[in-house]
Amino acid sequence: MIRRAILCGVGHYLPERVVENAEMETMVDTTDAWIKSRSGIERRHFAAEGELTSDLAVKAAEAALKDAGMNADDIDALVVATSTPDTTFPSVATIVQGKLGTAGFAFDVQAVCAGFVYAMATANSFIQSGQSRRVLVIGAETFSRIMNWEDRTTCVLFGDGAGAVILEAQDGAGTSADAGILSTDLNSDGRFRDLLYVDGGVSSTQTTGVLVMQGKEVFRHAVEKLAQTAHTALETAGLSADDVDWIVPHQANSRIITRTAQKMGVSMERVVMTVQDHGNTSAASIPLALSVAKREGKFQPGQVLVMEAIGGGLAWGAVVLRL
Ligand code: UT7
Repeated sequence: MIRRAILCGVGHYLPERVVENAEMETMVDTTDAWIKSRSGIERRHFAAEGELTSDLAVKAAEAALKDAGMNADDIDALVVATSTPDTTFPSVATIVQGKLGTAGFAFDVQAVCAGFVYAMATANSFIQSGQSRRVLVIGAETFSRIMNWEDRTTCVLFGDGAGAVILEAQDGAGTSADAGILSTDLNSDGRFRDLLYVDGGVSSTQTTGVLVMQGKEVFRHAVEKLAQTAHTALETAGLSADDVDWIVPHQANSRIITRTAQKMGVSMERVVMTVQDHGNTSAASIPLALSVAKREGKFQPGQVLVMEAIGGGLAWGAVVLRL
C-alpha cells in the first residue's frame, strides 16, 4: 500500500482582456505572421489595471473547488507557483488563503515556468508523508507586468492567467495502475541562469525589473531536457511513452511542444495545445491547459498524463499522473 495524490478538481481563470497578435502589431515592430510561425501564439490575456496575481489565483481556485465539490475549509495545504507575486511578501498563497479561508498552511514556490511541476511534486510529498490530505496547487502569473516593451523578441510571447488543481490523499496498491501521481522528476542547473532572468529585484536594484531571454539558447535546452525529464519520470513510474494518453506540456512555444513530443515518440493527437490562445503564462500554463482540456471533455478516468516544463534557472521537470 502506498499513499497517492489523486487529482480531484481542476479550474482556471483568464483575465477578460484578450490581446490578439494584430494588437501587438500596433504596440511593437512585429507581425502576426512572425509571432505565429515562430511561437504558435495567436492571442494572450492581460490582467486589468489593479487585477493582481492573487485575484487570478482565487478565481482559478474557486473553479477547482467547485469542480471537486469541496469547500475552502476542506483544504489543508495551499501551494502557489508564481514568479509574479502581488508584493515581495507575504506569499501569494497566504493572500489567497486569507481570501478563500482554506485551513492549514500556505506558501509559494518559485521555479518560474517549471513552477507548477515543482509545486505538484511538493504537494505530492506532503500527501505521501501523511502531512496533508487535500492540497490546493495553483499556478498564477501576471507576466505582462515584467515585459520589456522595447524588446520585441520577448514581449509578444507572454500572457497572464491562473490554473488550479486539488490533490487528495488516497491509498493505492503501489503499482503503475494506481490513480494519482505516479512519479515526479525535478532538475535545475544554475550555470544557465543568465539565459532567462528578470534584471531587477529586492536585494539588487530595489526595482521589479523586466524579463530578459536568450530565446534560441533556451529553445535548444528545452527540447532536449523536456524529453529527458519526461522519459525519466515515466521510467520511475514503470511506464513508457506507449502508455501516455496525454502530454500536458508547458505552453511556451508550439515548436518546442511538437519537437518534444516527436522526441518522446508520442503523436500530436495526444498533446494538449493551448499556447495559441494563452501565450506563455509561465507557472500557470500547465494547469490552464489541464483545465481547458478537461472542460473540452478530452480526459477519461484511468488515462496517463505527463506534464513537463522548463524555465528560468534553468529549472525543469515532469509529473506522471493517472486520472
Ligand atoms: O517559458 C520559458 C521557456 N522559454 C521558452 O521556451 C522560449 C524559447 N525560445 C523560443 O520560443 C524562440 O527562440 C523564440 C520564439 C523566442 C524566437 O524564435 P527564434 O526562431 O529563435 O527566432 P530568433 O530569436 O532567432 O529571431 C529570428 C529573427 C531575427 O531577425 P534576424 O536577425 O534573423 O534578421 C529577429 O530580429 O526574427 C526577428 N524577430 C522578430 N521579428 C518580428 C525577433 N522577434 C521578432 C518579433 N517580430 N517579435
